[in-house]
Amino acid sequence: MYKLLRAMLFRLDAETSHRLAFAALDLLHRLPGASRIARAICSRNAPSLPVSVMGLTFPNPVGLAAGLDKNAEHIQPLSDFGFGFLEVGTVTPRPQPGNPRPRLFRLARHAAIVNRMGFNNVGVYRLITNLVRQGKPCPVGINIGKNRDTPAERSVDDYLSALQAVYAHADYVAVNVSSPNTPGLRDLQNEQDLDALLRALKAEQAVLAEKHGRYVPIALKIAPDLDDAQIAAIAGRVLEHHFDAVIATNTTVTRPGLAQEPLAAQAGGLSGRPLKTLSTEIIRKLHAHLRGRVPIIGVGGVESAGDAWEKLLAGADLIQIYTGFIYEGPRLVREIVRGLAERVAAAGCRDLPEAVARARNSAPAASVIEGIS
Ligand SMILES: Cc1cc2nc3c(=O)[nH]c(=O)nc-3n(C[C@H](O)[C@H](O)[C@H](O)COP(=O)(O)O)c2cc1C
Repeated sequence: MYKLLRAMLFRLDAETSHRLAFAALDLLHRLPGASRIARAICSRNAPSLPVSVMGLTFPNPVGLAAGLDKNAEHIQPLSDFGFGFLEVGTVTPRPQPGNPRPRLFRLARHAAIVNRMGFNNVGVYRLITNLVRQGKPCPVGINIGKNRDTPAERSVDDYLSALQAVYAHADYVAVNVSSPNTPGLRDLQNEQDLDALLRALKAEQAVLAEKHGRYVPIALKIAPDLDDAQIAAIAGRVLEHHFDAVIATNTTVTRPGLAQEPLAAQAGGLSGRPLKTLSTEIIRKLHAHLRGRVPIIGVGGVESAGDAWEKLLAGADLIQIYTGFIYEGPRLVREIVRGLAERVAAAGCRDLPEAVARARNSAPAASVIEGIS
């Protein structure tokens, strides 16, 4: 069914088909009983696989990555697909149009996307209105960024004002310093700038926790285009400031294995299958520094339960998907949850963290469990 729909949608320009798909989804969702039917189909044979990370309990470890529902307009229909959590945004303090079109390109032969959207979004206040109107059927993270026209030296102010605005409405907040499509944004990953940003955010988090009587964890979203020294420096700052999680990774500016692909020459961040190994290696290296003291949300090129398992073994505690969801459709969520649950059962473990810990500690046992599709 999704394959047929996809064949039709993929004939259109990528952004138009995205809009059409969401319009249809919203319409369907409003039909009486449709949401119940969608939930029943998507949760069919999908076991519950709860995990606790950042002090939050997620019904399963498979989340939607930031950027698909930038303005929190489709929370309810997206949750029907059985995601364990949704991350909305990136949202900036003020609305902004993003880059001129075209800015989204499908590299279908490689199950990949290049995008240079540039944080097109309705601004933090309208996002909150959308979120409040829809409610939160599952944990919702809000991903924040800086406005393009905010000068680099005022970046911290943008993150602070966005944090203040979204704090009371988020289950966690993700701090995006890794989009390649906002000039200078990735420089915030440099040790000195990152130190100042994390310090300011943690101080504000303490104030807001006191004010609202609730501690909302903050995760840092990093790029895949980092060398070993940069990864070590980021891990050091995250540990020093007791950041609550790291999301690894955003899209890459490199083009691994895409020399023959004309659309790979488009400027922007690459996601999907060609990003998978790169992001898994970042997770592995990050985990070697963090050693479980700070959780990792693994994202980049996940299109099967095997890919998700690989990221968990490399050090991730939760998984997110975006491009795989576009190519494979909603069934991917259930397929990953089911595949992970099978691995837990095959290992005779109580829950996913126990199965992952056991597999990380014993390579031969891991390869047996990996044999499950
Ligand atoms: C069209 C598009 C828009 C995106 N927008 C954002 C964004 O606004 N904020 C963000 O943190 N990541 C954004 N991302 C990155 C994804 O959240 C994710 O980190 C990346 O695509 C890797 O995962 P994937 O290979 O499963 O797509 C975007 C990705 C795509 C394809």
